[in-house]
Amino acid sequence: MAITIKSSLFLLLVSHLFLFTFINSYDFSIQEATIDDIQRAFADNRLTSRQLVDFYLHRIETLNPVLRAVIEVNPDARDQAEEADRERERNDGGRRSQLHGVPVLLKDSIDTADKLNTTVGSYALLGSVVGRDATVVERLRKAGAVILGKASLNEWYGLRSFGIPDGWCARSGQGVNPYLESGTACGSSSGSAISVAANMVAVSLGTETDGSIICPADSNSVVGIKPTVGLTSRAGVVPISPRQDSIGPICRTVSDAVQVLDAIVGFDPRDFEATKEAAKFIPAGGYKQFLNLDGLKGKRLGVVRNPFLALLNKSTGASTFENHLYTLRQRGATIVDDLEITDVEIILDQYQSGEIVALLAEFKLGITDYLKELISSPVRSLADVIAFNTDNPDLENTNEYGQENFIAAERTNGIGEEEREAIKKMANLSRNGFKKLMKENELDAMVTPGSGASSVLAIGGYPAITVPAGYDSNGMPFGICFGGLKGTEPKLIEVAYAFEQATMVRRPPSSLTLEFSNEAYF
Ligand SMILES: *[C@@H]1O[C@H](CO)[C@@H](O)[C@H](O)[C@H]1NC(C)=O
Ligand SMILES: *[C@@H]1O[C@H](CO)[C@@H](O)[C@H](O)[C@H]1NC(C)=O
Ligand SMILES: *[C@@H]1O[C@H](CO)[C@@H](O)[C@H](O)[C@H]1NC(C)=O
Repeated sequence: MAITIKSSLFLLLVSHLFLFTFINSYDFSIQEATIDDIQRAFADNRLTSRQLVDFYLHRIETLNPVLRAVIEVNPDARDQAEEADRERERNDGGRRSQLHGVPVLLKDSIDTADKLNTTVGSYALLGSVVGRDATVVERLRKAGAVILGKASLNEWYGLRSFGIPDGWCARSGQGVNPYLESGTACGSSSGSAISVAANMVAVSLGTETDGSIICPADSNSVVGIKPTVGLTSRAGVVPISPRQDSIGPICRTVSDAVQVLDAIVGFDPRDFEATKEAAKFIPAGGYKQFLNLDGLKGKRLGVVRNPFLALLNKSTGASTFENHLYTLRQRGATIVDDLEITDVEIILDQYQSGEIVALLAEFKLGITDYLKELISSPVRSLADVIAFNTDNPDLENTNEYGQENFIAAERTNGIGEEEREAIKKMANLSRNGFKKLMKENELDAMVTPGSGASSVLAIGGYPAITVPAGYDSNGMPFGICFGGLKGTEPKLIEVAYAFEQATMVRRPPSSLTLEFSNEAYF
């Protein structure tokens, strides 16, 4: 017995020595590494999860003072990675899932019951204690993922005030687009998109109420999936609206984002109605099977030029979009062009559509419940948060950025007549607008440049995938967005993946590549 133990210890030592050698000789590159690359490197003993975490932590330490995409790193990330490495060794390389040992960064509005704070970027929530992990985090941990830390965001999703700049939160300051310092990182999942774009991590989670995944993905040249509302549980995530909130992956490739989606979808008793309703959409065998190179063959894609093309920078964006339509056709899709969405100008005006009226009341209800459920918290109501901002103008930049939406939300009193009308109006706008467009033209997806169509999709709970589509002459990225009816993720994934593989537009931010090319290799 003793001999067995001794010899296996010896073997362990030897295998560690080998590991070391392999790392030096095989040159695993973290730059643009996909989940599949990482798993292959794990399997070939070219990389351990611990080394991967060390690399990312080093990269965060170096880049984050400029980019401000990460609010906190997890002091337990290295231990979790070592545990994942040990587990893989014990099981002869066997893995729990494709995410086993893979570091994940979470938007700072997603609860983790660990040493990390969950604050939506605000000092008001610093020191609050959550009762348990958000359901999506429970699922990630079960899949073997390593929780690397919390990503910055537009504080309170930008809902506190429209005066809050995209990418800004009190706790980490102004997030910076890694491609163009003067360009926007968009929001509210700004830190999730920046950190993935700058190779500080391969996988992040964002949340979207209206545009908050697809817009930062658009601006930072990464892939964002905003799932059908309810496909992913919102339990344990700071809420705005149960009608519109959705949790989804932000990654560098469609394949990575889809593998993360597979890990986080599903019914959750803690978010009963929405996840029960959407669970029927989840295909047997998951979403990975739709990563199909021929995914554009036979698809009908609708193009709504008015007003989405007019929102583009004509010198670059518009011509690139035309080229992409040509590519989509070449790969077998039918482009149904020059379509109109009924009342689109009302839908895109968040005051006219009723969206703002509904969101403010829904937010007050949701945040009141969220704060109540915390184990402990410096603030227990929206009124407390408002008072905190008023009392701490230096911390929260309250005088400059304001909190007028919080004050308006505080004045609401549940879902009354006005809110019911607003919600009915949005349902009607969706029925006569996007839904009719899709049905009458028998479309598989609507394709739009940028993220200007986010409200069309948001008010109906519809899914979308954004894929990198180009860069203007300043180097500012832009994306292309594929939106569909509820539960049509399989089609959207086929279209997005086939488009991505046909175009391969994404490239890492060039200044960072040069600066870090040596450190990006072991
Ligand atoms: C969470 O916030 C507290 C301050 O309240 C801080 O001491 C702690 O380091 C933070 N946790 C992490 C992981 O940064
Ligand atoms: C629904 O929208 C249609 C088309 O815009 C409009 O004619 C109708 O009056 C609306 N119905 C309700 C109940 O708002
Ligand atoms: C449009 O693109 C041109 C050339 O890339 C650039 O100089 C200009 O600043 C852009 N304008 C806007 C409004 O983005």
